[in-house]
Amino acid sequence: MPIRFTYLLITALLLVSAMPVQGTEKAITINYPPDKTVREYGLLGVSVNLSRDLGDRIIANVNSKKRATITPLLGTECFSVPLEPGINTVELIAYKGDDVVENIIFDVFRRSELISGFRNVPPGFKKDNFHSEDRKICTKCHILKPNVYDLKPVNPATYPGESFESEKLVETTSTCYSCHKKITAQSYVHGPASVWSCLSCHDDDTIPDYSVKTPDSELCYECHIDEKKDWLSKKYTHGPVTIGKCTICHSPHGSDNAFNLFKSTWDLCVNCHAAKADGAHVIADTLFKEGHPTRGRQDPLRVGKELTCASCHSAHASNYPHLWAFEVASLYELCQKCHKQYSEN
Ligand code: HEC
Ligand code: HEC
Ligand code: HEC
Ligand code: HEC
Ligand code: HEC
Ligand code: HEC
Ligand code: HEC
Ligand code: HEC
Repeated sequence: MPIRFTYLLITALLLVSAMPVQGTEKAITINYPPDKTVREYGLLGVSVNLSRDLGDRIIANVNSKKRATITPLLGTECFSVPLEPGINTVELIAYKGDDVVENIIFDVFRRSELISGFRNVPPGFKKDNFHSEDRKICTKCHILKPNVYDLKPVNPATYPGESFESEKLVETTSTCYSCHKKITAQSYVHGPASVWSCLSCHDDDTIPDYSVKTPDSELCYECHIDEKKDWLSKKYTHGPVTIGKCTICHSPHGSDNAFNLFKSTWDLCVNCHAAKADGAHVIADTLFKEGHPTRGRQDPLRVGKELTCASCHSAHASNYPHLWAFEVASLYELCQKCHKQYSEN
């Protein structure tokens, strides 16, 4: 059974307020993260102690952009900031009134499989596996061992406006929510993540804790059985699908693009096939000079959707060369799908 959170919170508050100010008189001490860590995704969880005698507000900048303003509540303050691909310089500035009393800077590298310059981790940076260490500072207030509710949690969204320490949440929902709640704060959220079924993919029996199967398609195909059957029965699979890297394109959690894609479909395709952007390849052998449109028009076959690369190509698999999206036998038939007027001659 989970120990009552409110009790823990009060104990933590007492502990924190009873702590003497350190001799060095620092306004901010960072509990997490250490300097020069590596992240895969766009969110960084931060926890700091703020000595209220010395400071009364923290501003968090990431690469000089203001990302959070923290007014102290408990003395231990937690927040998340978004990360850009590449090196992110995080600056925490403590104020007392209008005066800057302290300024702490640390770096985080956000790796990106999609951007060649950010694929490799620069020297000096390393991955910090948060859950593989005993995090005693955090367990004063958070629960770090999944409990029975994590197996089939009540979606926290069922209780709008309820803070995570409320009994209702603590005793029914995911323990991951208190620290990772922003992971689902996206326009499109993946089915299992949207109901906080984090343990359907992550497991604390793995080493490092919560790491997932590789290649990740093994994980995805556990639930996407129909897709597995369909795609693997086709003659051609798309390069990244062939090597099982679903998450090079899809976020397993959520994103601001349909289908939880890391970029919009067109930007995603052009990311790896820049030379195809102008559509010249579609009608290369014809007299038509301008190239075929690849975006910015209505897709005649998919009502309400914009024409993209995926209007003609499957992102996953096809029985036809060049991964055509339709059951067509020739280039000519492909054109006819959308251009009925070509069917006369
Ligand atoms: C004194 C109690 C306390 C301690 C100790 C504590 N936290 Fe928190 N943490 C909180 C509270 C309260 C919230 C919720 C804040 C809110 O709802 O805005 C929170 C929220 C978070 C969040 C989510 C922030 C967001 O807005 O996305 C993260 C990440 C987090 N904590 C990480 C940690 C880590 C890592 C540690 C240990 C190094 C830690 N916390 C220690 C009380 C604590
Ligand atoms: C005390 C807050 C806290 C709680 C509770 C928590 N996490 Fe985390 N988790 C973190 C922080 C901080 C990181 C480092 C990444 C980041 O900055 O967000 C992290 C990282 C991870 C990672 C990346 C691997 C690693 O170890 O760095 C996974 C996967 C993960 N968490 C899953 C979960 C799952 C699943 C749960 C619930 C069973 C959970 N977390 C509960 C704070 C927390
Ligand atoms: C559909 C499977 C799936 C579900 C459900 C899922 N995850 Fe993940 N998660 C992954 C995969 C795959 C990765 C990437 C692992 C890697 O690259 O090593 C990942 C990575 C992470 C990371 C690490 C990000 C980083 O910066 O390295 C965190 C944190 C995380 N998951 C938290 C969660 C939480 C919290 C939930 C529940 C809301 C959740 N996950 C649900 C599959 C899933
Ligand atoms: C625990 C089961 C489970 C696992 C594992 C899983 N998914 Fe899903 N996925 C779902 C469910 C449920 C939906 C929602 C289905 C729906 O809304 O039609 C979904 C939906 C999706 C969608 C959006 C479909 C749409 O029409 O919007 C994509 C894309 C997707 N999953 C990709 C992945 C990828 C990539 C992985 C591996 C990292 C993965 N899934 C692993 C259960 C899972
Ligand atoms: C090259 C990028 C890319 C890769 C790799 C990729 N997908 Fe997709 N996926 C897409 C795009 C783009 C769409 C939306 C297609 C559309 O607009 O019709 C999509 C759609 C989906 C859908 C929803 C509807 C459908 O087409 O069935 C699911 C489910 C899905 N992908 C799962 C997966 C899984 C599982 C893998 C790994 C085996 C994977 N994807 C690999 C780009 C990718
Ligand atoms: C992560 C990089 C990556 C992304 C993103 C990507 N592709 Fe690919 N694509 C590849 C690789 C690798 C191959 C196989 C090598 C080759 O033939 O160039 C390939 C092959 C292809 C082929 C087949 C070439 C042939 O005739 O055999 C087509 C068509 C294609 N991609 C279309 C797309 C479309 C459409 C999208 C967007 C939904 C997309 N790709 C996104 C990497 C990518
Ligand atoms: C209107 C349909 C259509 C659209 C839209 C389209 N393609 Fe194509 N694509 C084709 C056809 C047809 C071929 C085969 C051309 C040939 O045989 O000469 C092809 C071939 C390809 C190939 C493989 C050919 C090679 O030379 O390796 C890739 C990769 C590709 N397309 C990517 C893309 C990307 C990326 C986009 C979006 C920017 C896109 N396509 C948009 C119809 C389309
Ligand atoms: C998925 C649907 C689709 C397919 C398949 C397709 N097109 Fe198109 N095509 C379009 C759209 C949409 C436009 C823009 C029409 C507009 O703006 O009114 C267009 C425009 C054109 C144009 C410019 C003149 C015009 O009609 O506006 C030519 C030429 C053309 N397509 C040739 C082809 C050829 C050749 C093929 C086969 C290789 C092909 N298309 C396949 C959707 C498609």
